[in-house]
Amino acid sequence: MKKTLLALTALALLASTAQARSWDDIKKSGTIKIATEGAFPPFNVLKGKVLTGFEVDLANQLAAQLGLKVQWVTQPFDNLLIGLNQDRYDFVIASHGITPERQKAVDFSSPHYCTGGAIVTKPGGPTTAAALSGKSVAVQVGTTYLENVRKVPGVGDVKTFPKDTDAQAALMAGRVDAWVGDKFTGLDLVKAQKGKVVQGALLFNERIGMAVKKGNSGLLKELNAALTKSLSDGSYAKLSGQYFGTDVRCR
Ligand code: ARG
Repeated sequence: MKKTLLALTALALLASTAQARSWDDIKKSGTIKIATEGAFPPFNVLKGKVLTGFEVDLANQLAAQLGLKVQWVTQPFDNLLIGLNQDRYDFVIASHGITPERQKAVDFSSPHYCTGGAIVTKPGGPTTAAALSGKSVAVQVGTTYLENVRKVPGVGDVKTFPKDTDAQAALMAGRVDAWVGDKFTGLDLVKAQKGKVVQGALLFNERIGMAVKKGNSGLLKELNAALTKSLSDGSYAKLSGQYFGTDVRCR
């Protein structure tokens, strides 16, 4: 038993120190493997077999610019960075806020959009950080929403859900007093629910980036160059306008 455990640990270590595919390997193969969640509208959405969303379109655009085909992989949000460190794909685009904690595990591209975490509640519910005192809040697990809601003084029960859409559903079902999520996602929810929910205050701002395995600087350089081009040649602005009616780049 002990031996098996040791062998497993050794294997895990081996896997995590294995080499990620370098830019040259990727270029040679002609295909880049990109991972996302597929349950975070309007950024990454999997409907049946069709993957859409601002980040999906943006990543496809960047890959095309790099002369690569794309192979998409979808994973639960909480597994995405772990799979990256196991070399299961080349990079992740799934609305990860660039945080010091995550920067210990992976390397981030230049930000591909800027946003914030906002409170959404039913009319009459808590709309400010102060009002969250004693209130129950739904958030997606493993996110910056969880991290930031936990810091709100006196906050009541913080309920975590595997998917952001489940956290929203908990609010709609009246099982929590508020949901904290992305401000753009929140605006879409308010629109879709026609007056049944309202958006409150922003709790924090964040810069969102793509993640590569730590040390994969060749790939990071190419991704950043492709993003810079998209930002300067109008293709980013066009895409952003389609999804948000505004340009969501960081300024
Ligand atoms: N921006 C938040 C974070 O950095 C949420 C990301 C959630 N992404 C997703 N694909 N569900 O944690």
